[in-house]
Amino acid sequence: MFLWGTATAAYQIEGAVAADGRGVSIWDTFSHEPGRTRDGHTGDLACDHYHRWREDVALMSGLGVNAYRFSIAWPRVQPLGTGTANPKGLDFYERLVDALLEAGIQPVPTLFHWDLPQALQDRGGWMNREISEIFADYAAIVASRLADRIPLWITLNEPFVHMAYGYAMGIHAPGQALLTGALPAGHHQLLAHGMAVRALRAAGARQVAITNNCTPVWPASQQEPDLSAAHAYDVLHNRLFNDPVLLGKYPDLSAYTPTLDFVHDGDLDVIAAPLDFLGVNYYNPTRIAAPTSEGLPFTDAGITGYPTTAFGWPVVPDGLRELLTGLETRYGAALPPVLITENGCSTDDTATLDDGPRIAFLEGHIAAMRQAMAEGVDVRGYFVWSLLDNFEWAEGYHQRFGLVHVDFETQRRTPKASYAWLRSFLEAQKTDT
Ligand code: BGC
Ligand code: BGC
Repeated sequence: MFLWGTATAAYQIEGAVAADGRGVSIWDTFSHEPGRTRDGHTGDLACDHYHRWREDVALMSGLGVNAYRFSIAWPRVQPLGTGTANPKGLDFYERLVDALLEAGIQPVPTLFHWDLPQALQDRGGWMNREISEIFADYAAIVASRLADRIPLWITLNEPFVHMAYGYAMGIHAPGQALLTGALPAGHHQLLAHGMAVRALRAAGARQVAITNNCTPVWPASQQEPDLSAAHAYDVLHNRLFNDPVLLGKYPDLSAYTPTLDFVHDGDLDVIAAPLDFLGVNYYNPTRIAAPTSEGLPFTDAGITGYPTTAFGWPVVPDGLRELLTGLETRYGAALPPVLITENGCSTDDTATLDDGPRIAFLEGHIAAMRQAMAEGVDVRGYFVWSLLDNFEWAEGYHQRFGLVHVDFETQRRTPKASYAWLRSFLEAQKTDT
């Protein structure tokens, strides 16, 4: 069965940050620091999904999806990131999972979507190698409660974006700006992934995946300096996270670091544990030129000549076909079946419910995915980001990615035109097969 779903993440929708013993996450800390998010927005209330999840499951059921990708908030399960589980945290996800199953929707949990318990950040966060093993313990705790009902598990969401935005540039929590010094935070996430794969399987999970953010990289010209800059960027964004997982080795990182001393013997064997799926999040291609200053070996040259989302991101549906066929060419037999675990676009906060651009976006990207499938890529699912307008990280509530509009004053949910479009689309899939 092809999975058609919607995707969300805990900190972006749940709210209820102090309910039932939840601990503090790095996003609570970060969003409360002055100047970190647009207009000082925080996820304190978000979509109040923690209390309104029944309504949200009903919205998905009305939409006709057969899968739902959500994330589990580590600080709800282990408030300090280690030690005995907080039963109330697990109870919340168990109720959600049971309601989804009842509605015929396959739950697809992600164990880490950036909301690290603050207590673990106080020990260095992902810069500290010990966090990898601690993550595997958390994975085991969650799976031992839920793996009897959940076949498919995702370990991490976008370790690239978490490393780059959180540790290299300081735009996201934990707000560190270590530049290339952030590479260990990438490696330790990958190690955590590998250790969690083992822990999940031992606890009865049948299928395991990781979700990577991938982007086709376009050189700004065919001149040598631009071509090598584009190669360097592709290494950092895509290959740094796909190669170890799928091939058991790192690409050549000499443009970024003189030493890989944070990689220990045996780590790559752990990281390359066989996977059932590769989760791919796609938003846009990236156009790269030679560096204009000292520092990183590339510059983002920007893409013009395409429509843009409210975020200003270029809308390039064919980039998804290019990305998928590129993965197939690069990894061949080492590429497991792919799930598109996120794809979608924002409309700005003054937009109406009449979100024509989102319909065009989804139509175009689904067609591009199908083109890649016709060209031989084994894609098994597609998840729209996102079900609800939600807390868009550093952008606060200003970028609305939902199929369903949320009035953040009243928490009223109103399906947009794209919701109705997707419902008819999914209905037609049923009669086609
Ligand atoms: C990426 C998104 C990411 C965002 C961070 C984009 O370029 O494609 O996946 O969340 O940057 O704001
Ligand atoms: C992230 C989401 C985010 C989306 C849009 C992805 O990088 O996984 O959490 O909301 O992009 O920026």
